[in-house]
Amino acid sequence: MEIIKDIKGMQQRAKALFREGKTIGFVPTMGALHEGHLSLVSRSVKENDITVVSIFVNPTQFGPSEDLDRYPRDIEGDMKKLQAAGVDILFLPDVNDVYPEGYRTYVTVEELSTKLCGEFRPGHFRGVATVVTKLFNIVRPDRAYFGQKDYQQSVIIRRMTEDLNFDIQIVVCPTVREDDGLAMSSRNLYLSSEERKAATVIYKTLSEAKKRLARGESFRKIKEFMQESILSVPYVKQLQYASVYHPETLDDITDEDVNIYKGKKVLLAVAVVMDSARLIDNMLVDL
Ligand code: PAJ
Repeated sequence: MEIIKDIKGMQQRAKALFREGKTIGFVPTMGALHEGHLSLVSRSVKENDITVVSIFVNPTQFGPSEDLDRYPRDIEGDMKKLQAAGVDILFLPDVNDVYPEGYRTYVTVEELSTKLCGEFRPGHFRGVATVVTKLFNIVRPDRAYFGQKDYQQSVIIRRMTEDLNFDIQIVVCPTVREDDGLAMSSRNLYLSSEERKAATVIYKTLSEAKKRLARGESFRKIKEFMQESILSVPYVKQLQYASVYHPETLDDITDEDVNIYKGKKVLLAVAVVMDSARLIDNMLVDL
């Protein structure tokens, strides 16, 4: 596995690969890699001649009171996992090269960035859209891989890719879960063992809500159920949202709209602040 730290070096490598007619698959990450990340990597390895993975803990997507400084880092462990997964190039840019003195340009995907997580993490998706734009311009992939775990992020990246005419296929891969259903996340490392147990309520709630949707229960009742269910366990400091949403506009949907969604998909999504970590999860459900 080749390791490239220099932005110009990565750009030149990408250009050379393009001239050789090789396809590039790209998996952007912030490291502390788990099976969720590795599922995107193995999909890319299957579908492309060359797979590039980036590890970059992007400061512009963290709010002032968020966990940038303590975000888990394990570069040695990550390198072993990526090597074993058959990654060709690991791109590890330096923060001072990505955002040098005088940096002034940001990408905002309007409306989609202020809903759901955007309401509680102002500026977060502006940071994500900006860094992903930069990474796309550096790595020049044919395909880029994202996880459904961060559903809103994937919707925003798709919108941005279309709006800014990036000639890149966005591939969204299913959420990889622990045996008890908890969605894998680098932030699960923050949880104490008691919190870790309590956190299983998120998946249980989503699964039960899905069943209730299938039974034709009203959106109103399902939303009530989701909120009560999550608030019933210990260590939940704040329930930021738990509801039924339009899978593309991310608008909260009500029973008046139920006929519009017959035969289509709706999004069940949850964000919970536990004592030591903020956790999100979602499910797409056919009505
Ligand atoms: P990070 O949280 O490291 O996630 C990198 C990619 O892995 C994202 O596309 C995310 O959705 C996916 N992922 C995380 N957990 C997953 C799981 N349990 N199952 C499937 N996929 C999972 O998301 C980011 O980094 C950043 O915002 C980034 C896009 C790299 C921009 O900085």
